Amino acid sequence: AGVENTPSERSFIALKPDAIQRGLIADIVGRLERKGFKLVAMKLLTPSKELVEKHYEDLKDRPFYPGLVAYMAQGPVLAMVWQGPGVVKTVRQMLGATNPAQAPSGSIRSDFFLVTGRNGIHASDAHASAEAEIALWFKPSELVDWKRDADQWIL
Ligand code: PPS
Repeated sequence: AGVENTPSERSFIALKPDAIQRGLIADIVGRLERKGFKLVAMKLLTPSKELVEKHYEDLKDRPFYPGLVAYMAQGPVLAMVWQGPGVVKTVRQMLGATNPAQAPSGSIRSDFFLVTGRNGIHASDAHASAEAEIALWFKPSELVDWKRDADQWIL
């Protein structure tokens, strides 16, 4: 405690349109906040089809890609950047498996969602993809550099 010197890892996390439509923002964002991660950017937007296509470009040959792009591009999407030690891996664990039916109980996908095509939330799967996704969705000036007084009790 108090000696953590690599608190700057960041992840890109997005609530998908089904989570917004169902009024789940506070429940899901609250879990990330209470865990101790620090919110450094957040915006609600309806992403362009081009933005969604770029975000998922590694999946462009998959059969589900057109449906995934259409689902996300309906919007709204709550795009966020969260920071903290181990945030990429830990948030993936908090989400659970891509298919909510296979996510461990207590995970976000298990507790709030039923099927892969409406699984409510995206989180970066690695440090490199996190940085690429942050750069895709946010301008540098949208990332808020703030000092959190509670850090002395968390880190
Ligand atoms: S894979 O096959 O390992 O690349 O798939 P995975 O990493 O689990 O998922 C990559 C993203 O594709 C979404 N996905 C789907 N969307 C709709 N329908 C189907 N069948 C489907 N399969 C995978 C999945 O939710 C991942 O997106 P994110 O936004 O990261 O959740």
